[in-house]
Amino acid sequence: LNSVGIIGSGKYVPDRILTNQQLEQMVDTNDEWIVTRTGIRERRIAAAEQATSDLAFIASEKALKAAGITAEELDLIIVATITPDMFFPSTACLLQEKLGATKAAAFDLSAACSGFIYGLATASSMIASGMYKHVLVVGAECLSRITDYTDRNTCILFGDGAGAVVLGEVPEGRGFRSFELGADGSGGELLKVCGGGSRVPSTEASIAEKQHYIYMAGSEVFKFAVRIMGNAAEEALRKAGIDKGEIDLLIPHQANMRIIQSALNKLELSADKCMVNLDKYGNVSAASIPIALAEAVEQGRVNEGDCLVLVGFGGGLTWGASVLIW
Ligand code: ACO
Repeated sequence: LNSVGIIGSGKYVPDRILTNQQLEQMVDTNDEWIVTRTGIRERRIAAAEQATSDLAFIASEKALKAAGITAEELDLIIVATITPDMFFPSTACLLQEKLGATKAAAFDLSAACSGFIYGLATASSMIASGMYKHVLVVGAECLSRITDYTDRNTCILFGDGAGAVVLGEVPEGRGFRSFELGADGSGGELLKVCGGGSRVPSTEASIAEKQHYIYMAGSEVFKFAVRIMGNAAEEALRKAGIDKGEIDLLIPHQANMRIIQSALNKLELSADKCMVNLDKYGNVSAASIPIALAEAVEQGRVNEGDCLVLVGFGGGLTWGASVLIW
């Protein structure tokens, strides 16, 4: 099997900022509550004319440039998202057209906030097997489009943005060492958007009931996340045969600082070994991890030979972790 790694990354977040102070004007909340309970200070909101594929496009162009390949050299595009531009065509197909990636197959992947890790696992297996050479994996979301800005339990958490990576062959000793993916469908009710699907089609009644918005049982999801983040990371490390003391940088899903802290405690890691940017962007679901990864690279926090652990959880319920040597 070939050694597969990330050969380029990029991110894009919309310009418009929604601050905690602005949210104070919209719902019964306050900056202090949001910061102490979540760590989030502001999030980005897509412009009216922007949809998920537009954010994905800008992040992808940056990733391709960083990888030093053209769009025509892509064999496959995977977009992890829960806010596709539309049901179909897939956002990956819309992105393929925007990029001019004429030789690439394209599909979307639905695993909520864990989608990017699921995408990495899928893409890296296809490259390792020799089926493909270059795969673009994108996490992109416009969560503002499925957020109820009268619901203080959810509207403080979510933002919009996109992160992209190009996967390809890397020298032996580098690249992905393990994946740990999981799902627990019994927790599906805890975090969902029901409206617009085949069970609850969009009707005036379903829209009046706000079924097209995110529903979340926050404290239940919180308990699950605290348990699963540390466990998934440890399982990925065990499979890779790497000790937690060897981690150089943890890149966790950016949902809540208290959830990230619990993972740090479990892994006995100090805060300087963790990439955190949720204060600026909030929870961007499948885009959170690739945005954090691209930003860590931009900031020079990732060096050749470093041991990175990516870990996330989300609706489904789902989780995913990966160990890679940069
Ligand atoms: N401002 C002020 N008060 C609030 C707010 C707010 N924005 N939101 C909730 N409260 C109140 C609640 O009403 C509650 O009041 P009560 O005790 O009078 O009923 C009190 O604060 C405590 O509420 P909890 O829900 O217990 O607060 P908690 O400490 O659990 O924090 C939070 C809530 C931040 C949502 C937390 O549960 C969390 O982060 N959960 C995980 C969310 C997550 O990561 N989701 C992933 C989604 S990703 C995806 O797949 C899309």
